[in-house]
Amino acid sequence: MKKFREGELELYAPDAKIPTKDMEVFYNPEKRACRDISVSFVNAYGWRQKLVVCDLLAGTGVRGLRIATECEPLKVYLNDANPNAYRVMKRNLKLNAGRLRCEVEVSEMNALEFLGTHGSFDYIDVDPFGSPNHFLVAAAKVRVGGVLAVCATDTAALSGTYPRVTGRKYGSKVVMTNFHNEVGLRILIRHVVGYGAALDLALQPVFAHSTRHYFRAYFKVGSGAGKIDKLLDNNRYLMYDVKTLEREVADSGNIGPLWCGPLHDKALVEKMVRVPEHLKDEIETVGYYLVPKVSAKLGKPVPRMERIFEALRQKDVPVSRCHFHPQGLKVEADIGTLKKVLNSLTKQKK
Ligand SMILES: C[S@@+](CC[C@H](N)C(=O)[O-])C[C@H]1O[C@@H](n2cnc3c(N)ncnc32)[C@H](O)[C@@H]1O
Repeated sequence: MKKFREGELELYAPDAKIPTKDMEVFYNPEKRACRDISVSFVNAYGWRQKLVVCDLLAGTGVRGLRIATECEPLKVYLNDANPNAYRVMKRNLKLNAGRLRCEVEVSEMNALEFLGTHGSFDYIDVDPFGSPNHFLVAAAKVRVGGVLAVCATDTAALSGTYPRVTGRKYGSKVVMTNFHNEVGLRILIRHVVGYGAALDLALQPVFAHSTRHYFRAYFKVGSGAGKIDKLLDNNRYLMYDVKTLEREVADSGNIGPLWCGPLHDKALVEKMVRVPEHLKDEIETVGYYLVPKVSAKLGKPVPRMERIFEALRQKDVPVSRCHFHPQGLKVEADIGTLKKVLNSLTKQKK
């Protein structure tokens, strides 16, 4: 065990080169940025009352303990079924006793048993190995107005590497695209929204992001058939042409159903002090264009991003970067318009 520092917190955790689920207790220092974002989310979200938090699959307890030391909750529960995790969580709780801003309770239970034996929460964080499917029932234990945060690390299963698995686990069709991480995130969201609907819950995504290793989405929990039906209307399809890179949101297609509504509550994002780069500026299109791939299709060199922005804005076409990829471009225009612009900015490759 090594002592790490994260935010206000000190913690004991294994010092593994490559974190795996076979570790004595799971800890991935590289997910620190993800936890920074969670803390930022909890601090920015407009809670109706002092919140009760549940870190359902807590590992070392790092995420819940960061909320207990950097936010203002009423109480934080840390739970993990692994006895080693329980021991480490208790050790980390003791280590940070002087920094805590609220009561913290630690338990060693199967997540489903924990949910069955506890009341409701304002915020439940579901941070599993791989798919969150086994734990989505946690949605039913979030109070109306509260938040369910869902992480998935089975990114390949969601974004086109294994279409059969996507169908089996998430009920969607998928093909590989140049914007597969956004596709995966939107397939995950539509799955959670659909799961919520089956429980008579309106799970409204208010913040979502992706990295190479995971997809994560935060859902505001509401109720009412009207609200649920309105949410479900956002679950649609993409018609995607692998050859031309053309894509269109439609009522049927080769990708979907996937969430085609907004990924972020803009007002909330404005209040968050820590979000992934470019996320604040993202315009709401489904999918982005990977500029080098489009240029390659044209057989042309890749123009500088600033020049592409300038040319599109001159045509009054809304455009933004996105957090999904450093060379990703969100454009409210079809591929034909983008190709014309790229053509006009570059000379033919010799
Ligand atoms: C990815 S790790 C959690 C990481 C932690 N949230 C963090 O930020 O470092 C997933 C955790 O879920 C726990 N777990 C897996 N299945 C469980 C179950 N059915 N009930 C409770 N805990 C479970 C594992 O022991 C592991 O610690």
